[in-house]
Amino acid sequence: MRFFIRTFGCQMNKSDSEVAAGTLLAAGHQETPEPAEAELIVINTCAVREHAVERLYGYINSLKSPAKHNQAPLLAIGGCVAEQKRGRLWKELPQANIIFGTRAFHLLPQAIERAIGGEARIDLLQPLEPLPEHPSIRPEDPWRAWLPISRGCNNFCSYCVVPHTRGRETSRSSATVLADAAALAAQGVREITLLGQNVNSYGNDLGKPGLFASLLLSLDEIPDLRRVRFLTSHPKDLSGETIAALAASANACEYVHLPLQAGSDRILAAMNRGYTLEKYLERVTALRSAIPGVALSTDLIVGFPGETEEEFEETLAAVEHIRYDSAYTFIYSPRPGTPAAELPDGVAWRTKETRLRQLIELQSTISQQVNQACVGRILEVFVTGPSRRGEASWTGRTRTNKIVNFPATGDLAGRFVSVEITSAGVASLGGQYVGR
Ligand code: SAH
Ligand code: SF4
Ligand code: F3S
Repeated sequence: MRFFIRTFGCQMNKSDSEVAAGTLLAAGHQETPEPAEAELIVINTCAVREHAVERLYGYINSLKSPAKHNQAPLLAIGGCVAEQKRGRLWKELPQANIIFGTRAFHLLPQAIERAIGGEARIDLLQPLEPLPEHPSIRPEDPWRAWLPISRGCNNFCSYCVVPHTRGRETSRSSATVLADAAALAAQGVREITLLGQNVNSYGNDLGKPGLFASLLLSLDEIPDLRRVRFLTSHPKDLSGETIAALAASANACEYVHLPLQAGSDRILAAMNRGYTLEKYLERVTALRSAIPGVALSTDLIVGFPGETEEEFEETLAAVEHIRYDSAYTFIYSPRPGTPAAELPDGVAWRTKETRLRQLIELQSTISQQVNQACVGRILEVFVTGPSRRGEASWTGRTRTNKIVNFPATGDLAGRFVSVEITSAGVASLGGQYVGR
């Protein structure tokens, strides 16, 4: 069958879609970039905010033009919305043929055989057998790869649906992760991003706390693996050992995504985040003193139930104080089944929008200033491909995860080059090619 995959959501979902594509290809199916030509459409869904779910329904409705198809394609809907809605999804999307959970991507080929055999409504939701140790993957990019080190989450932040859609945290063994990383590097991958909802608790479920720090040090031994990144680092579990490993490891990049969520201790407690602002700031200081030039980014939520103007201002003050390189900002979205969704919410939507705008404005000013400080420096850029600006223009990332656009002739995709930074914006840098 010709299949097309549409992915919503986070990097973990992108990685899962690579497993879906890899196992379907291994079973003899073919991938097509054209949904209209597909005989099988796989949709990998995200439930983290209402907006993501609305986009999913919008997308499914946009597929509904049978004129484009002689025969309607098989529709397989999986991932976090499937886990969240379970049986209800069949009622909402009766056109679906297969509904599969967050641990069933590798089982798609069998489900398709069953669907071809005439079975209607194939259900592959949790609990299921664990993922195979080394599933087939079809990487999106020949030089960069996602590498899941754990699945699920034990933190139960009060607003968050993820522990409900992905189950408890289960770590892959470090031997498995290292074998995958070495195999990827041997295939030409130069940058890997380790994935887990909380990489800092990696190994805890195996009775091996502190395993993330030793994993980083082992990854540094892999020849030709030039860059190691990781997502996401929970502040409450960011240990001194991990910070020391980041500082000691040559391929671990000088970039940490450290979600703060809010600046008020009352809100942080209501979110069940497990740290105070003071403890968070202490981690930031430790990172900055151990890793000179480390770039920091964060996630912030405005309009958590009951957030007062003063509490919101504590978020602004924290952002002003910390001076992140960048931030992902969200309006709180109540998720059915989470404790926060039961809290009384007196904050008007318009107020939440105003707070979001204020926060974005502040962070944009800071990002611009932080990026401006890069001007004049020569930085190592890993070129990811041609830039959207057109011909003979390339785009890539610094070790600190900043986007750099620069003109140069020749094919630089997948190369490490030196670029002198000549201009800075809020979201990217511009520069001049210096050489390989
Ligand atoms: N495990 C990661 C990522 C979780 S989802 C972590 O803990 O950082 C990514 C981000 O989405 C979160 O950091 C949070 O800022 C945001 N988010 C999660 N649930 C949300 C909700 N109900 N409403 C608004 N933003 C939410
Ligand atoms: Fe959600 Fe919190 Fe787990 Fe992140 S750490 S996935 S925000 S419950
Ligand atoms: Fe990721 Fe969305 Fe699921 S953020 S874990 S795809 S709910």
